Amino acid sequence: MALESCLLLLILFLLFVETRTKPNQCNHGEIHLGSQLFPTSNLQSWISPSGHFAFGFYPQGNGFAIGVWLIGQPDNTVVWTVNRDDPPVSSNATIHFSEKGELLLRTEKGYEKPIAGDLNVSDSASMLDSGNFVLYSGCNRIWQSFDFPTDTILGGQSLNISHELVSSVSSSNHSSGRFFLAMQEDGNLVAYPRKSAALPNDAYWASHTDENVGTTIFRATLDADGIFKLYSHCFESKTSWRVHTEWSALSNQCDVHGFCDFNSYCSGTGTNGECSCYRGFVINDPDDKFSGCYRNASESFCAGSKEGRQYNLTRIENLLFERDPYSVLELGRGKVSFVLSGRLSM
Ligand SMILES: *[C@@H]1O[C@H](CO)[C@@H](O)[C@H](O)[C@H]1NC(C)=O
Ligand SMILES: *[C@@H]1O[C@H](CO)[C@@H](O)[C@H](O)[C@H]1NC(C)=O
Ligand SMILES: *[C@@H]1O[C@H](CO)[C@@H](O)[C@H](O)[C@H]1NC(C)=O
Ligand SMILES: *[C@@H]1O[C@H](CO)[C@@H](O)[C@H](O)[C@H]1NC(C)=O
Ligand SMILES: *[C@@H]1O[C@H](CO)[C@@H](O)[C@H](O)[C@H]1NC(C)=O
Ligand SMILES: *[C@@H]1O[C@H](CO)[C@@H](O)[C@H](O)[C@H]1NC(C)=O
Repeated sequence: MALESCLLLLILFLLFVETRTKPNQCNHGEIHLGSQLFPTSNLQSWISPSGHFAFGFYPQGNGFAIGVWLIGQPDNTVVWTVNRDDPPVSSNATIHFSEKGELLLRTEKGYEKPIAGDLNVSDSASMLDSGNFVLYSGCNRIWQSFDFPTDTILGGQSLNISHELVSSVSSSNHSSGRFFLAMQEDGNLVAYPRKSAALPNDAYWASHTDENVGTTIFRATLDADGIFKLYSHCFESKTSWRVHTEWSALSNQCDVHGFCDFNSYCSGTGTNGECSCYRGFVINDPDDKFSGCYRNASESFCAGSKEGRQYNLTRIENLLFERDPYSVLELGRGKVSFVLSGRLSM
């Protein structure tokens, strides 16, 4: 009995020690002080655990720039660049995470430039799977690349009021390019050419999210028509709002496979899709245009009498059968139905 209590106490004590020590091990970043990166030697980089994002030197012009990219074949996609308007550095440059906790770019003439502002209190860094490059001090995130977007925002990153995205010069030169997208104080997201006074007339696109004095709530729904859409509800007051379709996965209703049921086809462009029966077919339910159609055959046709066995081949212009257009359905004992589905192409 006494031995059992002792064992229990010992186990409790060990558990206590275990839980007491854990919170102090706040070693967030896997990149430690003293780490270095070089542009040469196979373009080393610090890679996120998933292997999708990397931080380090990437080739720019006849030298290198520093940033974060999405790893891909044949090309990587740069999503963030440090000091993007600085000239490229040579192959002798290094990224140095100094013992003092400074993340530095060192070029050959002993020149040093901080990569993350003047912070020198970090003790670890991490390239996260979100694409965010983060510096930690103990348990705290003290700096993150997500706070300084260049031309891209990723999932989980926000473009705050008074911040902007600036396009790149080209897909291979990530210096500031010709356009910018501003998150204005009125909540409107507006795109302008950089060589302009950024007056309302200069804008070539806007999200029109400024009409709302209150809040905007975004909603994405797989609609009854089969298309996934993103909507914004801009609340002007508690009870009145405006709904905008911000984005639609498909712009053409007839691109939705199976929009019209068996033996009918889709016609129309844009959001207007109509279902019609092939000639000689009749709609299953006249109150439901998606109910499909059946062959309006006489009983003698099925019974196999000679006159019933006649059938015509009919031509329908511009009809496109996209999938397996023809299939045979078992409808229970002895009854078989042939079905066709397609869409009219313009
Ligand atoms: C990138 O574009 C900028 C602006 O046009 C230019 O000044 C710079 O030289 C270019 N950089 C490279 C590496 O081509
Ligand atoms: C790099 O440094 C070496 C040795 O100092 C020098 O010979 C070479 O020219 C440098 N390379 C570049 C691209 O500056
Ligand atoms: C960085 O470190 C230096 C000395 O090592 C100190 O003087 C300076 O205040 C530090 N800067 C910051 C932002 O902590
Ligand atoms: C933007 O706002 C979010 C949420 O308030 C905040 O976490 C983030 O640090 C802000 N970013 C910048 C660059 O201010
Ligand atoms: C079906 O066909 C018969 C003649 O074959 C016709 O009288 C009837 O109206 C058709 N039904 C419909 C719904 O079109
Ligand atoms: C085939 O077409 C002819 C001429 O249009 C018509 O007279 C005949 O009734 C059609 N037969 C069937 C089975 O639809």
